[in-house]
Amino acid sequence: MAKIKSKWVCQNCGYETAGYLGKCPECGAWASFVEEIQDGEKKNFQNLITDDTKPSLISDIHIGEEIRVSTNISEFDRILGGGLVQGSIVLIAGDPGIGKSTILLQTSGELSKQGQKILYVTAEESAGQLKLRANRLEINSDNLYIYPQTNLECIKSQIDEIKPDVVVIDSIQAIYSQTISSTAGSVSQIRECCNILMQIAKNKNITMLIIGHVTKEGNIAGPKVLEHMVDTVISFEGDKYKSYRMLRSMKNRFGTTSEVGIFEMASKGLIEVKNPNELFLNERSQDSIPGSAIVVTNEGTRPLLVEIQALVGATPYPSPRRVANGIDYSRLLQILAVLEKRVGLNLSNQDVYVNVMGGIEVDEPSADLGIAIAIATCARDVVVDSQTVIIGEIGLSGEIHPVANIEKRLNEASMNGFKKAIIPYANRNVGNGKIKTVPVKRLMDAITACISPSNQD
Ligand code: TYD
Ligand code: MG
Repeated sequence: MAKIKSKWVCQNCGYETAGYLGKCPECGAWASFVEEIQDGEKKNFQNLITDDTKPSLISDIHIGEEIRVSTNISEFDRILGGGLVQGSIVLIAGDPGIGKSTILLQTSGELSKQGQKILYVTAEESAGQLKLRANRLEINSDNLYIYPQTNLECIKSQIDEIKPDVVVIDSIQAIYSQTISSTAGSVSQIRECCNILMQIAKNKNITMLIIGHVTKEGNIAGPKVLEHMVDTVISFEGDKYKSYRMLRSMKNRFGTTSEVGIFEMASKGLIEVKNPNELFLNERSQDSIPGSAIVVTNEGTRPLLVEIQALVGATPYPSPRRVANGIDYSRLLQILAVLEKRVGLNLSNQDVYVNVMGGIEVDEPSADLGIAIAIATCARDVVVDSQTVIIGEIGLSGEIHPVANIEKRLNEASMNGFKKAIIPYANRNVGNGKIKTVPVKRLMDAITACISPSNQD
């Protein structure tokens, strides 16, 4: 009997080896190897060469016009770069329960209204469950086919039969291809299924909307494997226990990235939020509290006003705790180091907690100064004037670096009723006349400038 060949595949990065390894040499993950049976003969690459694989001169390549279809959900269109590009593959990634199926069912409903034929493959829920959701969202159409199926070969044959314009795969982790012996959700299955879907999309000019769950570590399960195969990656963020959600484009071959769309989860699905700043600032307590600062981040084409809260207190532990919610942990450590060295704030025996309100992620360096000020004011128990916004990136020697799009940020702040803005000195020539700007060169100057007058005496 022929020996069954097997290989071990890292479930984190897809690294393959002949035997079990405790630690992946590629990505460093521990205990991530799973055995998979190798099947099939080695492919004879000689036979695979066709005319298509020959190089052509760039001047000889002709492309058709890029066709975009509006989803009728303007926030979604914006993050896609102005609508869905026909024949493209879009990955929507997010935690379970965040609203991925809801947004794609709503999108399917809108597209079907425009006469597009949709095949919605529901691999996790039954057709009945999906119908219940569709009733809730008031979606009904003759162009929308619901297909509860997990087998990719069956899905492929239905695509051939129905000839849809758009296929939704809900979710990639739940479908499997018969050509691979590993279980659904494994790296090999996800990679193979995505490959097949990609070929279908490109050959038949079908738009693919693929849902991918995010693993505990925050990777798109399967994990990074999927990200570089698809044209567009959209991540769905937000606090599951709060009503608003953010769609963020992480990669887009057909538009800009870092664009953000904001939605509210209501009883009839996701509703677009036209002025998100109202929503974020509404949650703010009216009285100024020590350790709270408002920053203006620039998400894609739109500035967002976000409250940063910090809590600093004597630690009961042998080594002090640092907790970062909504900001990068190493960024927090860097800001703390600058505060200690350049401002002389002693935090070595203090716990520091930083939280971005609204459950959103702030990864833009222009929020540095706001984070530092939230921490410094909490440590000194003074408040930042509640009508002040803080903008600036901090360098390691405590200098404040300029930020991009300062004018847009100031406009947004003044539109939302803020009266004063702490800005980097290099941005001092920008202003809109409606908001007082205070240019600062160093972190120390910024801390002095934004403490309310009542605290300064
Ligand atoms: P869902 O789209 O199923 O999440 P995912 O596909 O990302 O796992 O959304 C699930 C949550 O959304 C669920 O907790 C119920 C809530 N929800 C609403 O609040 N309103 C609605 O109209 C719908 C359809 C869902
Ligand atoms: Mg779902």
